[in-house]
Amino acid sequence: MGRTRVNMLDLKKQHAEVEQEINQAVQGVYEHGAFINGPEVKEFAKNLTAYTQSSFCIPCGNGTDALQIAFMALELEAGDEVIVPAFTYPATVEILALLNLKPVFVDVERDYFNLDVSQIEAAVTKKTKAILPVHLFGQSAWMEPVLELAQTYNLKIVEDNAQAFGASRVVGGVVQKTGTSGHISTTSFFPTKNLGGYGDGGAVFTNDASLAQRISRIANHGQNKKYYHEIIGVNSRLDTIQAAILNVKLKGLDSAIGRKRKLAEAYKKLLKNNSQVVCPEEMDGNYHSYHQFTICCESNAFRNNIQAKLKESGIGSMVYYPVPIHQQVAYREFWNPAVDLKNSEYLSETVLSLPIDPNLTAEEVEYVCEIINLV
Ligand SMILES: Cc1ncc(COP(=O)(O)O)c(C=O)c1O
Repeated sequence: MGRTRVNMLDLKKQHAEVEQEINQAVQGVYEHGAFINGPEVKEFAKNLTAYTQSSFCIPCGNGTDALQIAFMALELEAGDEVIVPAFTYPATVEILALLNLKPVFVDVERDYFNLDVSQIEAAVTKKTKAILPVHLFGQSAWMEPVLELAQTYNLKIVEDNAQAFGASRVVGGVVQKTGTSGHISTTSFFPTKNLGGYGDGGAVFTNDASLAQRISRIANHGQNKKYYHEIIGVNSRLDTIQAAILNVKLKGLDSAIGRKRKLAEAYKKLLKNNSQVVCPEEMDGNYHSYHQFTICCESNAFRNNIQAKLKESGIGSMVYYPVPIHQQVAYREFWNPAVDLKNSEYLSETVLSLPIDPNLTAEEVEYVCEIINLV
């Protein structure tokens, strides 16, 4: 197939698909001039509640703010503990540390990259107040046991849904979008996400009216009425221009996920006889959104070798994440070595994410697999 470049994502191509509609939407914002809290933001919040079937959605500045605002809304006390997977993007844990909460790490499962629910109960102490599942790489964590444990121990659930917006899971016999079974969920509209804007963006979701009110107050400097501040808040808003763009992009989200699922199937077929790599598995009941297509290599050396060969061939790949959170310098103090986090450590050494853009062609996937199968 020659020396074509295959990028992890092709945001230029994604833009070309919706260029006219986006230009029109953004032009509308220039014309009314309400760059902050304009009508497109309200419309986007409404569209998101309809899409997710959540009762309330509060757009905000980015996915990290969304997590911080969610935990501020829970009114926890300094030193309260939150159970969180050790294999995630650091933002998940960063906001806990910033709020003087204590992250308590549990491991993830090798097959699905999501939190290992069998470790949760042993991690619960008198100070545990919440569980923070992350729907990593685009598929839902196993929520049913999390919901049960949360009920047993009276814990809150905040779902970090930055990577799986648009995915779903059958919970209690009902198909639910990820990020709708806990008390609060958060997402990110960072440009590379399933629903990506043209800059930063995020949102918080809940079905609880009083939490929703508190969340929107916190995101707006703690005020309900202008210049009357009842609680301490932050300034975290989704720009009107981003909302206008995201309203357009939301319409294409399901189709984009459908196309990525087909590409994932093609990868799985082409790599199935390669005994040195393991393709990502879809848990029963899950509709994976393939935010990433992440393979697991037989060793760290083999992973590095594949990555070098892909690079030589003009193919992008990424290691999400090379260091598990408990081994990051900033978060080591929260690491309890008595807890077995071997899968998080193993995955950091062996995972490799391959290009998965909705506009990738079958030939491009073949080319990527051809290179991997030759290593
Ligand atoms: C799992 C997870 N949580 C939180 C975030 C933070 O989102 P943002 O970059 O919009 O702040 C990200 C972004 O990469 C993420 O992947």
